[in-house]
Amino acid sequence: MLGLKTSVIGKRVIYYQEISSTNDVAKSLDVEEGTVIIADRQARGRGRLNREWISPEGGLWLSVVLKPKVEPQDIPKIVFLGAIGVVRMLEELSIPGRIKWPNDVLVNFKKISGILTEKVGEKVILGIGVNVNNDAPENGIAVKDVLNRKVDLVEAFKTLLENLDELYEIYLESPETIVELARELMILNVPVKVIGDGEITGVAEGIDEDGRLILRLDSGEVRKILYGDVSLRFL
Ligand code: ATP
Ligand code: BTN
Repeated sequence: MLGLKTSVIGKRVIYYQEISSTNDVAKSLDVEEGTVIIADRQARGRGRLNREWISPEGGLWLSVVLKPKVEPQDIPKIVFLGAIGVVRMLEELSIPGRIKWPNDVLVNFKKISGILTEKVGEKVILGIGVNVNNDAPENGIAVKDVLNRKVDLVEAFKTLLENLDELYEIYLESPETIVELARELMILNVPVKVIGDGEITGVAEGIDEDGRLILRLDSGEVRKILYGDVSLRFL
């Protein structure tokens, strides 16, 4: 019925009108690789660091169940796969999205999408939220705000899955290509503050082959930041 042209992602789609969080359902189900959980609304959508993710009807809230046979150090790169997939979906709507390291997609420096990956056993859950026809929270932005019109949500969903499927194939063969593609879309060479244990400021100069942020401090020293429990703020 959807007529999806994908080889792995979207072989099976499980739809809910409302669910707590598609990531939680994806984690709890024993399903084949490529299964997608999607909901119109999430009652308890989550962001990183257990922050609330506001998920009213009109947005795309979905999780993809992956079972990648890759080296452990390649698992975190899946977050980039999600972000690139969203940027490509936006591109088809003529919206220029950029990646804010490590897991956000911004349009006009406002958050249009966030990615939350979680690993449970052999499963990696790729959770993606995109503000489409919904009202975005303050500081966020939705597709409808950029285009001044609503778009076909099912079409956007299909486009996203087709892009993710293509990227997943690339990822399995060459995880480093995903890092390279993400680097091209990332907002870099800007002053930032990294908030983790403490706060450090510097210039986000790039990402290394493992996706770590390369930060040049005011002193000239270069630090590499692992995506974990850190947040990035533009200054
Ligand atoms: P940042 O701290 O820069 O927002 P982050 O990646 O460190 O990004 P996350 O935990 O990933 O923070 O994202 C959750 C944040 O996203 C919440 O703090 C909230 O402000 C914001 N948020 C929640 N729902 C939405 C939404 N639908 N659209 C855009 N932003 C949202
Ligand atoms: C973030 O920016 O911190 C990530 C937000 C991720 C939101 C998506 S919506 C679908 C999936 N289910 C969740 O509860 N979260 C992710």
